[in-house]
Amino acid sequence: AKVAVLISGRGSNMAALLYAAKAESCPYEIVLVAANDPDAPGLALAAAEGIATFGHSHKGLKRAEFDAIIDAELRKAGAHYVALAGYMRLLSPEFVAGWENRMLNIHPSLLPKYKGLDTHQKAIDAGDSHAGCSVHIVTAELDDGPVLGQTPVAILPGDTADTLAARILIAEHQLYSRVLADFVTRERQPAYILNQVRERAL
Ligand code: GRF
Repeated sequence: AKVAVLISGRGSNMAALLYAAKAESCPYEIVLVAANDPDAPGLALAAAEGIATFGHSHKGLKRAEFDAIIDAELRKAGAHYVALAGYMRLLSPEFVAGWENRMLNIHPSLLPKYKGLDTHQKAIDAGDSHAGCSVHIVTAELDDGPVLGQTPVAILPGDTADTLAARILIAEHQLYSRVLADFVTRERQPAYILNQVRERAL
């Protein structure tokens, strides 16, 4: 399966997907890494690994206009799936509809808790015993959509948002490639299948 990854910055989750894809047994390959910032450090990393990249600033463009530019690049690259990895842009409904059930996102919280930004601080402030990360199917609502996999990570005494984020990031890197591999092979997706069944029953 051909996967395109959308990033906005560092791209460590993208890198984790990329390195996992080097294994012979990996069922997906990364065909394009695109960013809404031509200077995103992750683009240089992907290029150095021999992956096609596309960087284009969203500045001055309407959301749907910019998304159409990205969409055209994804289609040109022959992507079957899109993986959002630290992509800090809200997506237009048209773009989401065009990749329905073929676009995943990773989010640093145990969804449905703490959608949006500042997830680590929110989990600490709430006194939660665990924070973590989730991979979910992207729907029109931010950080919504069926959850395909999660990793809980214990919050330690003295944790700050930064120390917690660093530990969760390690879990993110493990989780994303595993869930993406499962998803593209459609072998083991309890939440996804359950959701389909539910949708049909409605
Ligand atoms: C990750 O924590 C991801 O879950 C969140 O933004 C961060 C991106 O980091 N959405 P990176 O660019 O993958 O290193």
